[in-house]
Amino acid sequence: MRRVNKNERVRIALALNGRKLAAAAEPRTLLSDFIRQNLGSTGTHVGCEHGICGACTVLIDGVAARSCLTLAVQAEGREVKTVESLAAPDGTLNPLQAAFRANHALQCGFCTPGILMSFTDYLARNPHPSSAEIREVLSGHLCRCTGYAGIVKAVEEVASSAPAKAGKGDHASEAKHGGRGV
Ligand code: FES
Ligand code: FES
Repeated sequence: MRRVNKNERVRIALALNGRKLAAAAEPRTLLSDFIRQNLGSTGTHVGCEHGICGACTVLIDGVAARSCLTLAVQAEGREVKTVESLAAPDGTLNPLQAAFRANHALQCGFCTPGILMSFTDYLARNPHPSSAEIREVLSGHLCRCTGYAGIVKAVEEVASSAPAKAGKGDHASEAKHGGRGV
C-alpha cells in the first residue's frame, strides 16, 4: 500500500444530504472542516473541536457522530447528513425543527444543528423516550442560551405525536456521546 504524506491532498468522495460530492483534502482534515470548507455546507457548526459540545454532530450512515472527531477520509463512500437535510426543499421545517421553533428551544442557534441531528438519530430508534432519556441524550450537548427546558419540551412534543410505540433499548448513553461508532 502506498504511504500518503500528511500534506498530500487526497480525493474524498461521499454523499452529502443525498448528493454525491468529492473534493481534495489533506488526510488529516476533519469531517467538520471538510463539510464546511471543502463542500461549502455550513449548517454544521464547530464549537470545541474536542468532542465535548456536540455542535458538530452529523449522521454518518444514519448514526449520529461528532464530525470534529471524525476524519474526512473515514467518511469516504458513506452517506453523511447534516442539518440541511431536515427541512423540505421548499423550506418547510420537519416536525422536530417545528417543535423547536414552537417551544423556543433555541436562542442564538449555535448548538441547534447538532442537537437536531442527535435527536433525529435517537428518535428514529426510540420514538417515545422518557423525559429522563431525553435529558440523557441532551447531556451530550452544550447550550449556553436556552436553559435546556425548551429543548426537552420540544422533543417531548415530537415523541407524544409519534404514531407507534416501538421497542426500547438503552440508547441514550451512546447517543449523548455522539453516536454508536463511525
Ligand atoms: S465541535 Fe464540539 S463536539 Fe465537535
Ligand atoms: S441556543 Fe445558543 S448555544 Fe444553544
